Amino acid sequence: MSILSGKHILLGITGGIAAYKSAFLVRLLKKAGADVKVIMTKEAEEFVTPLTLSTLSEHPVVSSFTDQEKNWNNHVDLGLWADLMLVAPATANTLSKMASGNANNLLITTYLSAKCPVYFAPAMDLDMYKHPSSKASIDQLISFGNKFIKPESGFLASGLIGEGRMAEPERIVAFLENDIRTQLPLYQRTITITAGPTYEAIDPVRFIGNHSSGKMGFELATQALKLGASVNLITGPTHLKLQHNQLNRIDVVSAQDMFEASKAYFNQSDIFIASAAVSDYKPKEQYQQKLKKSEAAFKIDLEPTPDILRHLGSLKAKQFLVGFALETENEEENAKAKLKKKNLDLIVLNSLNDSGAGFKKDTNSIRIITNTETKRYETKSKALVAKDIFDYILKVVE
Ligand code: C5P
Repeated sequence: MSILSGKHILLGITGGIAAYKSAFLVRLLKKAGADVKVIMTKEAEEFVTPLTLSTLSEHPVVSSFTDQEKNWNNHVDLGLWADLMLVAPATANTLSKMASGNANNLLITTYLSAKCPVYFAPAMDLDMYKHPSSKASIDQLISFGNKFIKPESGFLASGLIGEGRMAEPERIVAFLENDIRTQLPLYQRTITITAGPTYEAIDPVRFIGNHSSGKMGFELATQALKLGASVNLITGPTHLKLQHNQLNRIDVVSAQDMFEASKAYFNQSDIFIASAAVSDYKPKEQYQQKLKKSEAAFKIDLEPTPDILRHLGSLKAKQFLVGFALETENEEENAKAKLKKKNLDLIVLNSLNDSGAGFKKDTNSIRIITNTETKRYETKSKALVAKDIFDYILKVVE
């Protein structure tokens, strides 16, 4: 998952040899989950075909004010559709037109009508790049609030070596991802989340576990990543998958493993959310060999596992600590007692009496309880519940 997932990206391609790299750029943006539309200048079509880019972007490519039937290509709608516009490669000519508002092609009119952030990645020969007029255009564009993706040094199409090569597509994508992240509310915050069940071994093949799927914890991690956080996801056994460059996944099996990992990541956490269904007991003794079946009754002695959340509550310093409570009776009363006992800042109550809540379900029905407030939410998907939880946390955490 990338922060670009679901974003509408308008890619403007202008007439420089680096335009051939724009095909890779479209691939990378698509791979990151973005929806990409391409506008080209007439000159760019000399370097790379619109067919290549329409195939890769899965949208028609536009380059003139009207289409073949002489219908108007609506640059205003395109500009409004975009969450961000990227001009790559941006030639000296296009930079100058963007800086002066010389709107004699579709790309520039779209740029002028776009309300979204605009990024530009210049590409030109080294002497053109050094020329004061190029520098002036770039400075002007930066002063308008546009974001400059610096060219790289190296071999140029002219055969010369120097600064002016368009940034590599990977670097452009990383630039966009980082820049977007810096504006998100949880940027530079570390969030640790426990998720899933724990398995307490009886012997090498059997265990005591529970029905937790880990869905709620994974949705919380997804939402935290969308909000720009770095996330440690400490998860018990689950088939769920999540990939993101700001995600550190720590797979554990038993409550003791989860306890060790939680302690290890607690200090660096700004927010800690315990959504795991930790087994409360484990077998006192673990058999080294598989137990043989017999006719006789069989007992397993159990002992308590560590209460991870309560321990973290006793260590709490700067952390905002969130727990979950799954109750079947006296729900609010029990949840409030847990909030106090475990020294939490917030507890999410899900009641098994609510038809939409439960372990393997995709929906959840919650109440958020703090020391000052109880807020009840409608039954909704676990993804939207995760959003509600973070909306609430963002209101109370500075
Ligand atoms: O006390 P109870 O198990 O109902 O508390 C539930 C909350 O405590 C959940 O947030 C759960 O993740 C956490 N917990 C824990 N360690 C345990 C048991 C529960 O962190 N051993």
